[in-house]
Amino acid sequence: MHINPEFNRAVKIKEVIKETVDISTIILDTELNAKPGQYLMVWIPGIDEIPMSLSSLDNPVSISVRVVGDATKALSQLKSGDKIGIRGPFGNGYTIFNSRALLIGGGTGVASLFPLGKKMVEASLKPSFLMGARSGNQLLFLKRLQQLFGNNLFLSTDDGSVGFKGYASNYFDIILQEHKFDIIYVCGPELMMSKIFQSAELKNIPVQASLERYCKCAVGLCGSCAIGPYRVCRDGPVFNSEMLRNVLNEFAKLKLDPSGKLIPVDH
Ligand SMILES: Cc1cc2nc3c(=O)[nH]c(=O)nc-3n(C[C@H](O)[C@H](O)[C@H](O)COP(=O)(O)OP(=O)(O)OC[C@H]3O[C@@H](n4cnc5c(N)ncnc54)[C@H](O)[C@@H]3O)c2cc1C
Ligand code: FES
Repeated sequence: MHINPEFNRAVKIKEVIKETVDISTIILDTELNAKPGQYLMVWIPGIDEIPMSLSSLDNPVSISVRVVGDATKALSQLKSGDKIGIRGPFGNGYTIFNSRALLIGGGTGVASLFPLGKKMVEASLKPSFLMGARSGNQLLFLKRLQQLFGNNLFLSTDDGSVGFKGYASNYFDIILQEHKFDIIYVCGPELMMSKIFQSAELKNIPVQASLERYCKCAVGLCGSCAIGPYRVCRDGPVFNSEMLRNVLNEFAKLKLDPSGKLIPVDH
């Protein structure tokens, strides 16, 4: 059955899985036809409607949420059997090429990249994955990634409790000295994505980066997610290198706040 993505419908929560200290995966009792990198607008009754990447496309689909404020806190406290509203899937999603790929996920950015990595492995494309987190207990989907990527999984933690000690962007520079990649996919904190983009530009490696901005309508109308000439909700959230070059004065520097004022991107 075709569902208009703009149609807001109620779905039941099938299961809630505690993944790390501050991230939970919510399995939704619904099936969707979505691409890796697409997102849903999730309405938490009485609280807010917020964008969430699809962290699994195997039906039933899931989202993985990190608590940062009121809506994410309320969402993570829901239980199996509770209902939420969803619109979507929205956004362009990642484009897969038949080439040597490195996926780089920081924090909940791993949620957006996991379905991409899975699809690539299933297509025998042998991608590599670099996951970075502040500490070992914040590494999302660690077991699943180990199973999927084996020796092609690189880990970094800021405190050195697991894997390389330092930022994923620093580890990326080291990995690049020993490995060749034709494309980089990245989702995570914007400063990390910007550093990775700069290193990739020096080596002429194309990048696809999933950006976050304040999203309301999700269909390109309200302008709350504007960056340069683009709307993150509709033209993104995945930006290729050409799009990133067009927003260099805002990428990892400025964003619109909920009232539409340009403010610094917090790191
Ligand atoms: C396309 C897209 C996909 C997304 N996918 C996911 C996902 O898969 N999982 C997920 O957990 N989040 C995801 N987000 C981010 C999520 O939508 C926000 O964290 C959420 O809207 C915050 O709502 P809130 O009411 O809980 O917090 P708010 O009250 O809106 O914000 C609380 C505080 O946290 C800050 N903040 C807001 N967002 C973030 C953030 N992402 N990281 C750090 N600080 C932040 C705000 O600046 C504010 O200071 C995505 C965003 C976009 C645009
Ligand atoms: S959220 Fe309204 S234009 Fe993007």
